[in-house]
Amino acid sequence: MNIVLLGAPGAGKGTQAVKIEEKFFLTHISTGDMFRANIKDGTEIGKLAKTYIDAGKLVPDGVTCEIVKESLKKVKGGYLLDGFPRNLFQAEELDKFANIDLCLNLEVDTSLLLDRICGRRMCHCGATYHVSTLGGKTTCERCGKPLYQREDDNPQTVKARLATYEDQTAPLKNYYLAENKLATVDCGAKSPDEVFKMVCAVLEKFNK
Ligand code: AP5
Ligand code: MG
Repeated sequence: MNIVLLGAPGAGKGTQAVKIEEKFFLTHISTGDMFRANIKDGTEIGKLAKTYIDAGKLVPDGVTCEIVKESLKKVKGGYLLDGFPRNLFQAEELDKFANIDLCLNLEVDTSLLLDRICGRRMCHCGATYHVSTLGGKTTCERCGKPLYQREDDNPQTVKARLATYEDQTAPLKNYYLAENKLATVDCGAKSPDEVFKMVCAVLEKFNK
């Protein structure tokens, strides 16, 4: 099963991806995580990506499609794409080198997103938290390392990211709807575990 995970910034793609990967044995590929790893390592891709990420804009398609294409060559079995494709060009390119079975769209009211993103704390191991549930803790429950805040998780960049999403990424819902591959989970204000139950219901039905 090869899945595209679609959703606005802060919709919970990363949070759900960790759970889906574990339960359905899929490889989680996040373009955002790959760019952040490149930035941390100081690579040329990282230097280029940082200028776009800091501005809340999309990293150029050529670089982005290439890193996804290369990553998929190493994957055995099914995978979960988190944050790719993000515009029509990327979706069409993806269809040239991959067979996508399903686009899982996480729908969350925009009014919830700013607080979620600005309160997010991350660990380099991939775990994601929110300050409201950390009870003052500053280290990762999973691996014990210090948590950090993403540089693009500030109100100004988040507004730009949301605008980029509405303008370029949201239209992909229609792209996958036309291919009869769209499944939308209406997350409302439900907790991550409640959302995961709905996600499982969709994936189990699809997997039959
Ligand atoms: P990326 O890293 O993909 O960021 P994003 O799409 O903006 O999404 P986020 O990671 O911010 O949110 P999420 O949906 O994963 O939410 P999360 O689970 O963490 O991309 C970053 C940048 O890289 C882009 O802006 C772009 O510049 C570049 N880029 C990436 N891919 C690209 C591409 N294909 N093309 C070009 N450029 C690309 O949850 C958020 C918070 O909410 C957390 O605190 C979490 O604990 C909390 N939370 C989660 N679920 C719930 C819930 N149900 N209830 C309450 N709180 C919740
Ligand atoms: Mg994410």
